[in-house]
Parts: sequence; C-alpha cells; structure tokens
Amino acid sequence: MSTGGRRLVGRLIALGVTGSIAAYKAVELLRLLTAEGADVVVLLSPSAQRFVGPLSFAALSRHPVETDVLDLLPDGRIGHIVIADSADAFVVAPATAHWLAAMASGLAGDVVTAAALATSAPMVVAPAMDGDMWRHPATVSNVSRLRDVFGYAVVSPEAGPLASGQSGMGRLAELPSIVDAVVAALAERPIRQPDPASRPPLAEGLIREADLAGRRIVITAGGTREPIDPVRYIGNRSTGKMGVALAEAALARGARVTLIAAAVEVPLPVHADVTHVETTAELREALATAMGLGSPGSVGSGAGSGAAAGGRRQTRSGPGAGAPDALVMAAAVADFTPAAPSERKIQRRDRLHLELSPTPDLLAEIAAAADARAVTAPAGRPVLVGFAAETGSLDRAAEKLRAKGVDLLVANDVSEPGSGFGTDTNRVTILDRSGTVESLPLLGKLEVANRILDRVATALDARDAAAQTAGAKPPSTATRGST
Ligand code: CTP
Repeated sequence: MSTGGRRLVGRLIALGVTGSIAAYKAVELLRLLTAEGADVVVLLSPSAQRFVGPLSFAALSRHPVETDVLDLLPDGRIGHIVIADSADAFVVAPATAHWLAAMASGLAGDVVTAAALATSAPMVVAPAMDGDMWRHPATVSNVSRLRDVFGYAVVSPEAGPLASGQSGMGRLAELPSIVDAVVAALAERPIRQPDPASRPPLAEGLIREADLAGRRIVITAGGTREPIDPVRYIGNRSTGKMGVALAEAALARGARVTLIAAAVEVPLPVHADVTHVETTAELREALATAMGLGSPGSVGSGAGSGAAAGGRRQTRSGPGAGAPDALVMAAAVADFTPAAPSERKIQRRDRLHLELSPTPDLLAEIAAAADARAVTAPAGRPVLVGFAAETGSLDRAAEKLRAKGVDLLVANDVSEPGSGFGTDTNRVTILDRSGTVESLPLLGKLEVANRILDRVATALDARDAAAQTAGAKPPSTATRGST
C-alpha cells in the first residue's frame, strides 16, 4: 500500500485532551495527525471542555468524542474502553499537572485517565503548565513515574511565554515534535488489520468531503441582547449551539468561516474568524462588513441602528472584504429593542413602562441588497439561508421564505422536546424557493448542520454552473481550493 510519505496511514490514534489553556492546540494536532494518514478519535476531560467543545473535534475526526466515563456507544459498548482496546497509540496533549498526578496514581476519574489505564497501546504524553508547577517535586516525581515505571514517552514542554504572563518552561511542545513522538512510538509495530466492528464508530452521518473548499461562508449564532439600562437587557433563550455546529461543519468541509457570535454559551470554533456582537444594531453592522456591503446604512434603513455605539463589539480577526458565497443566519435576533435605553441604572419603582421599537429585518435587508447587486454581478449573489423558530406549527414558514427573499429556510418547532434552544438535537424542515419541503427526523445538531450545508453546497454548484452557462466567471473560481 502506498502511503504517499504519510507516516501514520492505517493507524488509529487516541488523542486525550486535558484542561490546559493549550487545549485549543489539540485541534491543530488532530489536523496534523490526520494529515499523516491517521484515523484519530478524541477523548476530552471535563476541564478540557471548558476550553474547546467536542463539536470541533467531532467534525474533524468524524468520530463521536468521548467526554464521560459513563457514556455508552449507540450499540451499548463502553466508549472509552473501545478506544483503549483498538488504539494503536495514545497521545495526551496537553497533559496538565493534575492529569499527570491522577495518571501516576491510577485515578480513573475522567475518560482520558480511564482509557489510558485500560489500554496496552504505547503512550505519548505532552505536558503543558506553569513553570513552577512543572518544576514542583510532585510533578517531577509523577513525570518520572510515567516515563520510567510506566514506559510512557514524555514530550517535554518548552520555554516561552506562558498563560500567567511570565516566560519560562511549561509551554506545550511544538506540535510537529509531538507527531514525531507518536510516529516513533509506533515505528517497530506492524500495521494491524483490526476487525472494523471492534473499532470506534464513525459519527452518525458525518462523512462529508471537503466540498466547501475555497468557499467563504458567513454564519451568525446566538441571541442578541438589547440594553434596557447598563445592567439589564432583553434577550432570548438561544445558546448558539446550532450556529456553532454549522460553523464547525463548514470548517470541516473546507470552507473559510466568518462567525458572527451574539450571546453564545458554547466554546467557539478554533479556526473561524469570529466577530463578537451584542445588540441587533451591532449584528447589523458586522453583517454589512462580512457581506461586503459597506456601512449598515447602505444595506437598508430601519430602527435599531442608533444603539450601535457602546463599543462592546470586538473583532478577533476581521473578515475580508467582498461578498461571501453564503450566509447562514442562525442567530436569534431581537424583534424589538428599547427605544431609549437608559444610560444609568433604572431605580426600583412601582411600575415601569418600556417603549420598544421594532428592529430592522436584517435578513430581508441583506437579501434586498444582494438582489440589487446581482443585477450587475449575476454570479455573485450569495446563497442566503434563514431560520424560522416557530411554536406549534410551521405553517408560516413558506411565507417567511418569500418575505425575507432567502434561498433556503430552516424551520423548527422550538416547543417540541429535543428541538430548539439549548438542546443537542434538532428536528428541522428545510424549504426552498421552488416549493420543495424536506422534513428531517430528530438529529444531532452537527448532522443537521451538515444536511443544511449539503443544500448550500448544491445551491452553490448550481449557481456556478448557471453563471458559466451565462458566460460569467463564477466568483469563487480564483480562490477555490486555495484554503
Ligand atoms: N431575523 C433577522 N432580523 C430580525 C429578526 C429575525 O434577520 N430582526 C432572521 C433570523 O436570524 C432568522 C429569520 O430572520 O434567520 C427568521 O427569524 P424569526 O424570529 O423566526 O422570524 P421573524 O422575522 O422575527 O418573524 P416572527 O417574529 O413573526 O416570527
């Protein structure tokens, strides 16, 4: 079998991630291991999940992520034991001082330690912590026990800037040297031909090609908050899970993703360009930039823009200019905003009347602006996807699709159990302009995201084909495949 120079073809690597500030680097480590041909399955300790969410790893590894010692696979097997038994090598990166101590003592309180105790695969451990913690006699003795008694390969941390702001030993080793250590740990071992039934399952329906490579997709997520005064706001129950799942799935399929995050309660994708917003007015402004439409005023007009000030919006890395290929508007946008938010905290009193003004319909504005621009650049209209949160019936969905001028509308009944705010699952119906209605069963949000992106990918291909037939150059031709 030709491996094309890839050093981990045919290997199943368990990647354990524990709760260090360096946990986000494990996403890149997963990519590097995969690029070497490895099949990677991820286990996250509870504290690791405070830094990076399981969705990032599930979307990239295409396996369910183990997060709990009590989790069973759909077929009833114990998830972390299946990984322990089938992994060719087990790498823990970053490994915290706490994890090293638990492992040295054989305390199996989380999935990473439990699987490590249960495996006979070679172990590679890459610690990361504060310099004083690394030098502490407890850590020194734990590391030497793992190395000398257990036979683990330890990829020592390096000197450099630390999370504490100080500089010293403790930074996670450079990722290529961790990959090299995994390769070295397996050097003498023949590639096994395990029974597929004994291996960790693939995540349900997550097998997609990189069919969005070269595409840029703007996704909004979470609920907007409209200030009443400096202390209080009008908000909604959105947690941002659906929007974040869309961003993770789009990234895993090769897209460049601009994520505009309102109030989001789950970890954000590591590789997205994230713009944080709070109010509908800030979202409107961020959308105008991300969609390459200039100032919000040039998108349309309406109430709500007055609250744009306040300076709460932060940009981690700004989206590039120019129209993206698609917008997926998963954010729960306030329909009303206090007409005159108070600059000072409103005192307790017998009664309070709040005057609310309607916000502009951002999606309808974007659709109108995209239509106007499409007259001069027919190939450039982004595929627009709206959501419709309904309670009780989806009867209004078709009219919403028409009124907002979107290509696809994803409707769900948020009052149904397992569907809607804060859940890990969703039951949605996808409507399109031609009148097709696709009702999906109850699915995990990552799978729902992929089903929506399947439709976006198809719509984009149709758009490009139409543009080519019309003799126009598809807008993405220059950049496709470049990411
Ligand atoms: N939306 C928007 N601007 C608003 C309100 C909603 O762009 N001011 C977007 C949402 O992000 C979503 C879609 O429009 O993609 C539908 O949102 P929904 O709340 O279901 O519909 P509304 O337009 O608010 O209509 P209604 O309140 O009558 O249900």
